[in-house]
Amino acid sequence: MRHDIKLAEPILDVETLPLEVAVVVPTLNEAANVERLVESLSVVLAGRGWEVIFVDDNSSDGTSDLVRRIGRGSRHVRIVQRVGRRGLSSAVIEGILATAAPVIAVMDGDLQHSEDALPRLVDAIETGGAEVAIGTRYVEGGGTGDWDAGRVRMSRLATRAGQMALGTDVSDPMSGFFAIRRDAFERALPRLSAIGFKILIDILASSPTALKVAEIPYHFRSREAGESKIGARVIAEYAELIADKTIGRFVPIRLIKFLIVGGLGVFVHLAVLRTMLGLGDAFITAQTAAVVVAIAFNFFLNNSFTYADRKLKGWRMLGGLASFYAISALGAVANIGIGTWMAGHDERWWVAGVAGVLVGAIWNFAMSSVLTWRK
Ligand code: GDD
Ligand code: MN
Repeated sequence: MRHDIKLAEPILDVETLPLEVAVVVPTLNEAANVERLVESLSVVLAGRGWEVIFVDDNSSDGTSDLVRRIGRGSRHVRIVQRVGRRGLSSAVIEGILATAAPVIAVMDGDLQHSEDALPRLVDAIETGGAEVAIGTRYVEGGGTGDWDAGRVRMSRLATRAGQMALGTDVSDPMSGFFAIRRDAFERALPRLSAIGFKILIDILASSPTALKVAEIPYHFRSREAGESKIGARVIAEYAELIADKTIGRFVPIRLIKFLIVGGLGVFVHLAVLRTMLGLGDAFITAQTAAVVVAIAFNFFLNNSFTYADRKLKGWRMLGGLASFYAISALGAVANIGIGTWMAGHDERWWVAGVAGVLVGAIWNFAMSSVLTWRK
């Protein structure tokens, strides 16, 4: 790592020009790129009052230290270092909240977003009347660089999903390269989901009024240093964001996940029951074992899927399992009680059965969210 940071030329306009634009750059292990990024920003933004805010999630490669070192030589450069936190979207939100600038640009820290397009993004807002200006790869003059066919197809698919969820024809709602007027961001702020990677979709979907959009083509460059953070988790979080922005308006996504897990638990229950009966066990023994196994199955799956963000580990996991058994036992009593009561009022057996299951499931969800996986 380099310790002798010298910017191309010292920038002295900081105190004279009013702050016009802030560039928010989320970083996770981008030490090999931040210096060049600052240099190119000082070229394309020369003559404007600007600052760049790196929001670094405590990168292990020393990105934060490096940014601070650069920042001692230039008042244009600031940092928000987050410890024990992750997430591109939430990083961008916190970066925007850390600046006073009336226009904010968001850009990756790996040099894949070509800075040449940055002044056009800012101008589209300042003089073009747009509330948000989006760097897009999918209109004439833009491009996805050297992505392989698989990645292009995946991105297209995700783009379609985003467009459908938003009901928008924005060509590149997945873009992480855009500029926005501060007041437009602030109107969307209270409703942001802040899940995962795609902050632009989140902002567009959370805005109480449709935002005036400008689309600015640019070429996505290939990454030369450091590594991409895309992976299974990014894809899962994208699915979650889309779910939250659509059905999430009516039913909490966590409840849906909890019910999916519960549904799988029914299969586990039946599998254990059948196996034990096949081995010659008495029904009551087999049914008891099936209940015990299915509850444990539900606990562990909820712990790593439904409550991944509050996952219990070590001794706390054992405590959680015990509380989940206790809650589920009461849930079963409620299930049987409601079911039996309903059966006395409605002759359709399955209505009574489903009512019992639903009340039991909601009880389990509500109680375990405050006791087992409390914040
Ligand atoms: N603070 C923080 N926290 N930064 C992160 C995190 C995180 O959890 N994850 C990734 N980053 C930073 C990276 O360091 C990089 O500066 C930027 O976010 C984008 O991450 P990449 O891993 O390089 O993303 P990509 O190249 O696969 O994805 C790009 O394409 C998308 C369009 O399909 C990015 O440009 C996205 O912003 C864009 O939406
Ligand atoms: Mn990248």
